[in-house]
Amino acid sequence: MSKPSNDLLCEAARTGDVSTLTSLIAVGADVSYFDDANLNPLMHAAKHGHADAVRLLLSHGAPWNAITPTGISAGDFAMENSHQDAFDVLLNAGVQSELVLGTIARNTRLDSKSSSVSSDYLEERVRFGEDRIMDSESKAVMMSWELPLMEAHARAICSGGGDGLSVLNVGFGIGLVDTAIQKYNVGKHTIIEAHPEVFDRMLKQGWGEKENVKILFGKWQDILPQLESYDGIFFDTYGEYYEDMRQFHQHLPKLLKQDGIYSYFNGLCGDNAFFHVVYCQLVALELANLGYSTQFIPLPVRDCLSDRVWEGVKQKYWQLDTYHLPVCQLDCDSS
Ligand SMILES: C[S@@+](CC[C@H](N)C(=O)[O-])C[C@H]1O[C@@H](n2cnc3c(N)ncnc32)[C@H](O)[C@@H]1O
Repeated sequence: MSKPSNDLLCEAARTGDVSTLTSLIAVGADVSYFDDANLNPLMHAAKHGHADAVRLLLSHGAPWNAITPTGISAGDFAMENSHQDAFDVLLNAGVQSELVLGTIARNTRLDSKSSSVSSDYLEERVRFGEDRIMDSESKAVMMSWELPLMEAHARAICSGGGDGLSVLNVGFGIGLVDTAIQKYNVGKHTIIEAHPEVFDRMLKQGWGEKENVKILFGKWQDILPQLESYDGIFFDTYGEYYEDMRQFHQHLPKLLKQDGIYSYFNGLCGDNAFFHVVYCQLVALELANLGYSTQFIPLPVRDCLSDRVWEGVKQKYWQLDTYHLPVCQLDCDSS
């Protein structure tokens, strides 16, 4: 279809003219077309809050997850302009599409910090800096700006109270969450870590001598048979895919006590606000299928992040102003 017709399609999307959109699509106008402003029809419709036009374009194959050259999606436009209806339609489309196709799930690393990390991270050398661990490609495995987040995760999973909580943490990193967990009344604190150098460093730092700490060296996938059930569980690995975390979630019914609390590092799509929301919903839905309800606690993180934080890091793995800390518990209705 010619550029003028495709431009007309963008214009009809911008004004929410559903009948013109329908006619143009019927004669072959391209719903994926990007105009000279680098926007496609779906983005125009979302930006101006035309929920019906958004619905129509999606039903004719407009991709919900297309982005502008600067990384903005139709959902971001709806969000930025407070168009709740258009946003809801796009969110629903994103979640449904991911549930059925798992497009991002197959290709997305657990956090944007590792979006293209080498697959054998566990066999490669890491570098320890004052405030970080870096992999062999100068991507950050863990950074200390996450301290307030890790403290909040520890608080969440230890909030069951009572004496002698039993807690499991998957992925030691620089030990932020484990240090925070130690401040609670924890009877049994189990830590799984798979990287040999991270493991050696833990031992050098004395983690092996702490009375209530049990370190299990290896991949969580291989350690599973040694695990018990816990009052609190935190999951934060590196170099793994979303699919791996989904696999871990399948074991929660055995690993988490009835009134236990589970949380994970919620870095999924941490470089795009809308995709991040889609992922929050997707994980919550998948956990709901296992009988867990998930609450997301918003934590402002803008103050933790200055440009200096990212000096020497190949990829800014978190670019959003708010972190959504997940707190998952067995749904009372399903227990
Ligand atoms: C992002 S860091 C964890 C940071 C930690 N939450 C903290 O507070 O410092 C991820 C850690 O998971 C470890 N890891 C990666 N894959 C793993 C696996 N399959 N099983 C266990 N640990 C793994 C990495 O070596 C790394 O130490």
